[in-house]
Amino acid sequence: MTVAPSRPDARGYDRADWSSGFRNVSQELSDVSLRPSRGQLPAGLVGTLYRNGPGRLERGGQWVHHPFDGDGMICALRFDGDGGARLSNRFVRTEGWQAEEQAGRFLYRGVFGTQKPGGPLANAFDVRLKNIANTHVVRLGERLLALWEAAGPHELDPDSLETRGLTTLDGALRPGEAFSAHPRFDPGHHGRPRMVTFSVRTGPRSSLRLLEFATHDDAASGERAGQLISERQDSFAGFAFLHDFAITPNWAVFLQNAVRFNPLPFVLGQKGAGQCLSSDPNGQARFWLVPRAGGRHAGEAPRIVDAPDGFVFHHLNAWEDGDTVVVESIFYNDFPAIGPDQDFRSIDFDLIPEGLLEQCRIDLASGTVTTQRLSERCCEFAMVNPSREGLSSRYGWMAVAERETGNDPLQAIKKLDLISGERRLWSAAPRGFVSEPLMVPAPDARGEDEGWVLVPVWNGARCASDLVVLDAASLAECAVLELPLAIPYGLHGSWVPA
Ligand code: CO
Repeated sequence: MTVAPSRPDARGYDRADWSSGFRNVSQELSDVSLRPSRGQLPAGLVGTLYRNGPGRLERGGQWVHHPFDGDGMICALRFDGDGGARLSNRFVRTEGWQAEEQAGRFLYRGVFGTQKPGGPLANAFDVRLKNIANTHVVRLGERLLALWEAAGPHELDPDSLETRGLTTLDGALRPGEAFSAHPRFDPGHHGRPRMVTFSVRTGPRSSLRLLEFATHDDAASGERAGQLISERQDSFAGFAFLHDFAITPNWAVFLQNAVRFNPLPFVLGQKGAGQCLSSDPNGQARFWLVPRAGGRHAGEAPRIVDAPDGFVFHHLNAWEDGDTVVVESIFYNDFPAIGPDQDFRSIDFDLIPEGLLEQCRIDLASGTVTTQRLSERCCEFAMVNPSREGLSSRYGWMAVAERETGNDPLQAIKKLDLISGERRLWSAAPRGFVSEPLMVPAPDARGEDEGWVLVPVWNGARCASDLVVLDAASLAECAVLELPLAIPYGLHGSWVPA
């Protein structure tokens, strides 16, 4: 794809720059050494940034219908503390990726509307899922896990990124069981750090498994990293589309969006399964609060509380204030779908709802919820300092639009003071577009905002990706690494300290 010279419109970006970030990755690099092209890498930033996202968006001349249907590609950027970094990337060798690489065309339908060549007749009644492993990547003990929420995790070698294959996590999962792509990392609310995650099977009733894994070896308790420590199973009325959740010391908090699912167009080969989801105007969104193992309510039944209208993919954080559970989430006023006849590269941002950060206070005694908007600026991919996960936090970092209101591509990073409302902004506009920022605390941090924010940027001028390191407190630019790779807009990633 070629990119015209930048002509930012009134909104401050050029559509050709934006859409040039959707492409195939054609290389797999191994430990390519990099030095910053601007600034200096902080000496304390030592560890590995892992990122996941769709790396293959076209086969045999056919484009995916939605980038979320692209095969997962993992990038690892290792910071050795010597002023440089090393970059590696690998596709996850899923069964579907291998078969389609061989065939040179799509052999599977995508959840977000990608169809096999041949029209509805060729797609009807083919309800096989291709586990594309493209949503998140996390380290659990000796495993690196590539996650995709509709099926099981793929295990990779954390150093070489080589795919070891699907894993049941030592029998914790049944073969083929769906495993969330949004684990939450409890920094140690009950003494030991945990990876808390879930598995959901949905239908007229939805069955939810809540799982807690040890993340570190512990000689005193005999726990080993990756070991399943606790689980519970609950069932709830209604269809559930659960992408993310949040934790507090006592609760796992889920938001059951008011959506309905009509599988017929999917079965008939007209739409992807994800395109059969729509807002249910007569439905009622609900919070499900599931008591956590080790918490004050362990073993009790879940609490169910009506939630405000709107649609949520991602939460910022949750915490407890006495008998009130506070959840901060990015709300859309409708389910943002891409119709079967739309090309995702030519979407009209003005016609799709923007994400806005809101705080819901759930009063457990009365079962009532009060909602407050925290910011009017379109945002996504928000996080707090990982040591404040599940606890009240002062600051959130998130990807935002350059414009103060309205829907636009994500081009800037915002640090929001959740108490005072004060904000700072760093912007990649007009020619840069950001993916999920990660806040990495400094090793000896005393302040909540002491550390760095790692930002993958699609650089429309270079038609390649940069990794920008910001100071987490001031959002001043510390360093820019110009990567010798063009990485399409990504999904989620994680930081593993050395
Ligand atoms: Co997500």
